[in-house]
Amino acid sequence: MTGDHLDSTDPQVLDYMLVPHRNFNLINGVHSPDEVDQIQNWEIRDSDIFVVTYPKSGTIWMQQILTLIEAKGDVTPNTEHLNAQRVPWIELIGSEKEFNATPSPRLRVTHLQYKFMPLAVRQKRGKVIYVARNPKDVLVSYYHFHKYAAMLETPKDFNDFFEKFMEGKVFGNCWFEHIKTWYANRDNMNFLYITYEEMIKDLRSMVERMCRFLGKDLTEEQMASVVEHSTFRTMKLNPQANYKTVPDSLLDHNKGTFMRKGTIGDWKNHFTVAQSERFDSAFQEKMWDLPLSFVSDINDVNSAT
Ligand code: PPS
Repeated sequence: MTGDHLDSTDPQVLDYMLVPHRNFNLINGVHSPDEVDQIQNWEIRDSDIFVVTYPKSGTIWMQQILTLIEAKGDVTPNTEHLNAQRVPWIELIGSEKEFNATPSPRLRVTHLQYKFMPLAVRQKRGKVIYVARNPKDVLVSYYHFHKYAAMLETPKDFNDFFEKFMEGKVFGNCWFEHIKTWYANRDNMNFLYITYEEMIKDLRSMVERMCRFLGKDLTEEQMASVVEHSTFRTMKLNPQANYKTVPDSLLDHNKGTFMRKGTIGDWKNHFTVAQSERFDSAFQEKMWDLPLSFVSDINDVNSAT
């Protein structure tokens, strides 16, 4: 969720806090409200590709896959650079200059809500891939990330974080609002919706779907390489995918690992029955008007294959 500033050792960058801006929480020192407001005016090329995620929904996974597809399965760029440098966040301070200077195709990610996106993207220029993950696992993954990411407040305990997530008092704000606003506006964009759970179930099919959407034609060998180097097993061994080069002062590697579990259903190890029921009723109340459902049990994936 962070990019070049992760290379910084400036102690000032540790002075982080959430800054509300147009009903969205930005992170002080990472985002600038003025720069975020400028994003809507960015000039977009048809070849621009934006991956959109609520945090902890598979961003780094898509950064890995997109880079591999562009490199036709050549893994070299994925081992030499941080994922966040190969496919940067548009909301980070200083990203507009770098966006304008980048040759096509420009690959970008964002956790922003729909309303902040370039107007041209909302008029079908460029392409958008929205990756969603079942929100209970998002919450758990985000909880663990908060424990070792210096730019985010350390939760007192799981219960404390559960409440903050439910109230949207995190970067990314309310999960329900994020997905709803993006999905409801899908017809305004060149838009592909995929889920983390579909990728767990059949990674190759999802890479093929992405290639069709992006107009990429890979050989059998190239496709096999993209898939092989995008598995959790392979990525977990890749120091770049784990942000291992980022200093402990920003990501305390003794307290957590970016490539943590990479599965479906870890929420069952964290949620109480009452929390699960509360989450389910919030889901029903807020999502009833969207045709979206999520797999939240790994057995449901395995039994369907
Ligand atoms: S961030 O901070 O928003 O950029 O985080 P993000 O990359 O969106 O999400 C991190 C979670 O995605 C999991 N992940 C994967 N799962 C399965 N297979 C692959 N290849 C993969 N790559 C990343 C990662 O393990 C984090 O989930 P948890 O549940 O914490 O393990």
